[in-house]
Amino acid sequence: MTSTEGANKTMKLCELDDLASGEVARIDVDGLAVAYARVGDQWFAIDDTCTHAKVSLAGGIVDEDELTIECPKHGALFSLETGAALTFPAIKPVASHTVSVNGDEVFVTISTDADNQDADKQNEATS
Ligand code: FES
Repeated sequence: MTSTEGANKTMKLCELDDLASGEVARIDVDGLAVAYARVGDQWFAIDDTCTHAKVSLAGGIVDEDELTIECPKHGALFSLETGAALTFPAIKPVASHTVSVNGDEVFVTISTDADNQDADKQNEATS
């Protein structure tokens, strides 16, 4: 299911039981690769492409205590909550997206609002 409201696009990610805690997966939303992860009852979604060398973060390791994901290529840590790049060699953030649970279904809302555009602009400016 996909819906578009204003500048936001909402899309079903998966069923609630499709990911165990600590697991991460990848989905394509209109050409945007999104990594989504589950930690307990919390769900997170961030842009999937590491800002250091364009590797898929969905192949990385989730730290359930720190709520981070480690890039599988060079080990940079990104916040699952905000997409912030927390350690080198990545210095640019990835965009974070809103995840919602409705019954047994999990949805992501991709925003093209100011926050994510700011992250995109920041990425472009420092590229
Ligand atoms: S590709 Fe992700 S840290 Fe280098």
